[in-house]
Amino acid sequence: MTAVELIRKKREGASLSPEELHFIISGYVSGAIADYQMSAFLMAAFFRGMNAEETNAFTREMLHSGEIADLSSVPGVKVDKHSTGGVGDKISLPLAPIVAACGVPVPMISGRGLGHTGGTLDKLEAIPGFNTALSISEYKKVIAEIGIVMIGQTKEIAPADKKMYALRDVTATVECIPLIAGSIMSKKLAEGIDALVLDIKTGRGAFMPSYEKAAELAQTLVDTGTNFGKETIGFITDMSQPLGYAIGNWNEVMESVDCLRGENIPDIMELTYILGGAMVMLGKKASSLKEGIDRCKDVVKGGAAYEKFVQMVKRQGGDVSFIEHPEKYPVSKFSRTVTAQEGGYVTAIDALELGLTSVQLGAGRMKVDDVIDPKAGILLAKKIGDTVKNGEPLATFFTDNKNVLDSAAERVAKTFTIGSNPPKRNPLILSQVDKNGVKPFVL
Ligand code: URA
Repeated sequence: MTAVELIRKKREGASLSPEELHFIISGYVSGAIADYQMSAFLMAAFFRGMNAEETNAFTREMLHSGEIADLSSVPGVKVDKHSTGGVGDKISLPLAPIVAACGVPVPMISGRGLGHTGGTLDKLEAIPGFNTALSISEYKKVIAEIGIVMIGQTKEIAPADKKMYALRDVTATVECIPLIAGSIMSKKLAEGIDALVLDIKTGRGAFMPSYEKAAELAQTLVDTGTNFGKETIGFITDMSQPLGYAIGNWNEVMESVDCLRGENIPDIMELTYILGGAMVMLGKKASSLKEGIDRCKDVVKGGAAYEKFVQMVKRQGGDVSFIEHPEKYPVSKFSRTVTAQEGGYVTAIDALELGLTSVQLGAGRMKVDDVIDPKAGILLAKKIGDTVKNGEPLATFFTDNKNVLDSAAERVAKTFTIGSNPPKRNPLILSQVDKNGVKPFVL
């Protein structure tokens, strides 16, 4: 076997055997296969795709390139959630403590934001002192002690993905369903979970904007998880406007804390309760999705979910005084409020453009090594369907960078479409996906 032969084979549209995929991936990790050969292979896979057997073998190789955390000594069914990412998607922050407070252990390994989408790690690191860089042995200790742990990808977890993802990012080979499935599922399977809930976004702020592509990705992810013996269910959810009102890192932490303290921000809590209900059901603490949702609502109402969040922040070295007294947190040097130039109904908000503007403000990164400003971001004053009067605020943004104020103000203003009639509203949760296929979501 040679790399050139296998690249040619994939280029011609043939499928590769598990042994051939092992040769490519282990060769790349060891350095025997160079970046330029892997780039060619990735592009061939991008155009030719992979069948289900190849996708499973590819995922297995990525998974076994590193360690798989053994959480068998932690009692209970361990369940995680993964979202394909969006704008204002802070759901993991309220969700994980809610589910853990219901008695289901949640071991979560998350990623950083890239491009227009935010990342859970960046949000957690906005909390002064919060340590997301735990070793696998520390990760196991924390989940055993408090039933929740949230960390970043360590060097032991799926190192093949770490190396390949960086290459995909600079070779325009990210948006390929089998490559995404191998990348996401290898990391999730390495966490030591027993079951997984997936949130696959669709709409303008999503990584897979078209519903058809999102559904295909959802089914591939669910089938891959199922194939590895993990009960996996997915939901296809709308990302045509940001989730909640906050975009940015610290302001998304604070919005999550408000939700955990009982504030009902409708889209955040609707999605959190559906995903949470499914996790609690898969974690065998409820016999149906409805019962799981009720359990989640109870732990928010009774304060146990907020207490679990505080316990996790403390255990991972975070300074809880900033959560309890957010007025202590540093503020951006500059802020601007963008107002409506006409009255009517908000009929659309461009999530993609708001995500990209938040990167310009300092809240995100376009390259993996860009440094982010946790204070920077955007707070929406209006969402789709709201009425607005001429001159009323639409959004306020925050930054330390004086040079971007005018262009950001112009961009934010353009993201809002105002019309004279109330818009037709799409449901937030569009479909449910399991091993039997994709079906419309009904509770
Ligand atoms: N997120 C990942 O972790 N991997 C991908 O390939 C795409 C999104």
